[in-house]
Amino acid sequence: MTDKEATNVDFGHRHLLGLADYSAEDIGHILQQTDRFLEILNRPIPKIPTLRDVTVVNLFYEDSTRTRLSFELAEKRMGADVVNFSAKGSSVGKGESLKDTIQNIGAMKIDMVVIRHQSPGAAHYLTRCINTSVINAGDGPHEHPTQALLDMYSMKQKFGELKGLKVAIIGDILHSRVVRSNILGLTKMGAEVTVCGPKSMMPLYADELGANISYRLEETLEWCDVAMALRIQLERQEQGLFPSVREYHERFGIKKRHLKEFPHFTIMHPGPVNRGVELESEVADNSRAIILDQVTNGLAVRMAVLYLLSGRVQ
Ligand code: NCD
Repeated sequence: MTDKEATNVDFGHRHLLGLADYSAEDIGHILQQTDRFLEILNRPIPKIPTLRDVTVVNLFYEDSTRTRLSFELAEKRMGADVVNFSAKGSSVGKGESLKDTIQNIGAMKIDMVVIRHQSPGAAHYLTRCINTSVINAGDGPHEHPTQALLDMYSMKQKFGELKGLKVAIIGDILHSRVVRSNILGLTKMGAEVTVCGPKSMMPLYADELGANISYRLEETLEWCDVAMALRIQLERQEQGLFPSVREYHERFGIKKRHLKEFPHFTIMHPGPVNRGVELESEVADNSRAIILDQVTNGLAVRMAVLYLLSGRVQ
């Protein structure tokens, strides 16, 4: 790919805050661009100068392995200048507010900010404080748009198209930003989504956003083409929403026997996997699981997003 091509200048967005603001056409365009970046990643030297002269800050207020590494690698593969900030070990520990931290970063002439924060709306807030492009890498239980984009890309890669695909998302629906972004994206792309989990972890919005609700794992596995398991988010459990991890696994964990009983569905998980809780270890390692493809695709999706948004860097 050459330095800057016409397509990113025409992209109508400066920020990626959530898939609520993106149309089916926008999503389709990102997924299409991802093909090209995946091809670049498979070259002997997987580097391009597209973001040369662009400075990106990765602002991480919450723990992350995959998302953080993936953004950083995507930025570096594209030649950006990259600065990493993590709340642990920073002046946040000395009581500095998000606004002050952001304004200081703004004063350093940054072009793009990738933010992960425990508060819903943190990425939106950032757009009001500084004049940069903002990408939401997860804001509390609200949205995680690049995760949903990489999930959709992985499904499209496996099944050819998203239209008519039956996707089950299983687990801690209430605390999951991944599920919210996926319902928004998948329904816009014509897929059918069913969320499945304990009643105590089922938010009202699932219905409002157009997902089917199920409380029965077996029934859901029989129905779906894709079973995406979600991590039980122990760090976001204010009150005990299920009696024990063992009981959760009994009722909602995908087990080896399910693979025999329902021989068609593909297994996905955004990671990190609690082995033996949402997936039996053999299920996570089974050839029907595309969990590592999701990670590879995540890098290409983030390159596509950075590329498209960089058309609006002033
Ligand atoms: C997810 C997240 O942080 O929202 N993980 C990820 O980004 N790969 C899901 C999770 O933490 O369970």
